[in-house]
Amino acid sequence: MKINNRLKKIGDLVAPNSICLDVGCDHALLDIYLVKKKQNIKAVASDVKEGPLDAARENIKREKLEEKIEVRLGNGLDTYKNEDTVIISGMGGRNIIGICKNGLSKLKNVETLILSPNNYQVDVKKFITKNGFYIDNEVFIKEGKFIYQIIVLKKGKRRYKESELFFGPIFLQNKDDKLFKEYYKRELSSKEIILKLLPKNFWFKKILLKRDIRMIKKVLI
Ligand SMILES: C[S@@+](CC[C@H](N)C(=O)[O-])C[C@H]1O[C@@H](n2cnc3c(N)ncnc32)[C@H](O)[C@@H]1O
Repeated sequence: MKINNRLKKIGDLVAPNSICLDVGCDHALLDIYLVKKKQNIKAVASDVKEGPLDAARENIKREKLEEKIEVRLGNGLDTYKNEDTVIISGMGGRNIIGICKNGLSKLKNVETLILSPNNYQVDVKKFITKNGFYIDNEVFIKEGKFIYQIIVLKKGKRRYKESELFFGPIFLQNKDDKLFKEYYKRELSSKEIILKLLPKNFWFKKILLKRDIRMIKKVLI
């Protein structure tokens, strides 16, 4: 079964012997990759919609993996039972924050959280590091013309500077990395364009954009 580089990378970040809940599994491609390629994984593929779950069930059946992948229908972490690892990827950052906020009591039992928001990555990092997790690893992955962030969080508390949460504490340690530079060059030019286009009365948004632009320029030099 074909799987893209982004999902493959997420799968490679899962520790062997884990029990994983994949929230928003869509066609369960990640779960199939996990149980086939990694040692001793039990996966739960869950989604809020029946349509994706039907496709997931079909794929799991085709691969004869019904014993290793359970399928659950439900909203966000409502499907959580006792898994040690939760993966939420390929959704907007605000949706991911909402799922985590509604499921904070469930997250108390989770050791590892792997998040890959499509946007609002800084907000996701701010929210989740205030709510019982620290950033253990961060990875950029390029898929076509898009560059995605994958954030691996572990249960625990750490203090972060504003710049660490803005860039990511692990990314910041590798700021000479090619993808880091490419990602923030793109961020810089999109923020500069937005700043130019914003009408005068958006003065507060302009202040924030100018602050972000200053931070990015400082790191890219
Ligand atoms: C674009 S797909 C991403 C699939 C896969 N996780 C990935 O990274 O490629 C988003 C999936 O998340 C599901 N989804 C969105 N909000 C959800 C929620 N609150 N709870 C569970 N699933 C959700 C959608 O139904 C859809 O199947």
